[in-house]
Amino acid sequence: MKVLILFATIEGQTGKIARFAQAEVEALGHETVLANADDPMELTFHDIDAVILAAPVHERRHPQNFEALLSVRKDELAARKVLMLSVSLNAAFPEGRDEAKEYLVEMKLRTGLQADTEMLVAGAVRSSQYDYFATQVVQHVVMRNREYDANAEEHEFTDWDALKAGIDGFLAQ
Ligand SMILES: Cc1cc2nc3c(=O)[nH]c(=O)nc-3n(C[C@H](O)[C@H](O)[C@H](O)COP(=O)(O)O)c2cc1C
Repeated sequence: MKVLILFATIEGQTGKIARFAQAEVEALGHETVLANADDPMELTFHDIDAVILAAPVHERRHPQNFEALLSVRKDELAARKVLMLSVSLNAAFPEGRDEAKEYLVEMKLRTGLQADTEMLVAGAVRSSQYDYFATQVVQHVVMRNREYDANAEEHEFTDWDALKAGIDGFLAQ
């Protein structure tokens, strides 16, 4: 099977998740194509059997260029098996999962995306890359009173085992 992994990333964690997905898909004996939503001209669905989409949530939305691509390539996506990985910090917390799900529901309403499998994937706090505004948003809006070390350069919440299991299950469908 040939699998397209199409991702968007702002601080890098979803890029890391996309590369992990690529390694896992290849370990299972499939061919992959890794595409960044920032380079839409490179994107082709020719010969692609399945698609793994991965995008982070910033201020309650997935990146606009990623959403625009999903809207424009809606028919090509609908003709293939699709796994959507929605990466956010709310996904890391049991009481945040409903909100994490809302980001995805709203994105699907805007883009018309229909995924066969969806996963809410916990992202990371990357304090070393934030400007003042991002620091304030992450500390006071997203993380609120949740436990993490705001002084650490990076705090990764991604559950790699769960992600691997999700990808394996999707490809076995
Ligand atoms: C400015 C900013 C806004 C964010 N907004 C949200 C949000 O509304 N909800 C949420 O669950 N996570 C939010 N996050 C957390 C990101 O989804 C998380 O850090 C993710 O790992 C980012 O992925 P990326 O490194 O691929 O950009 C925000 C992060 C930043 C820096």
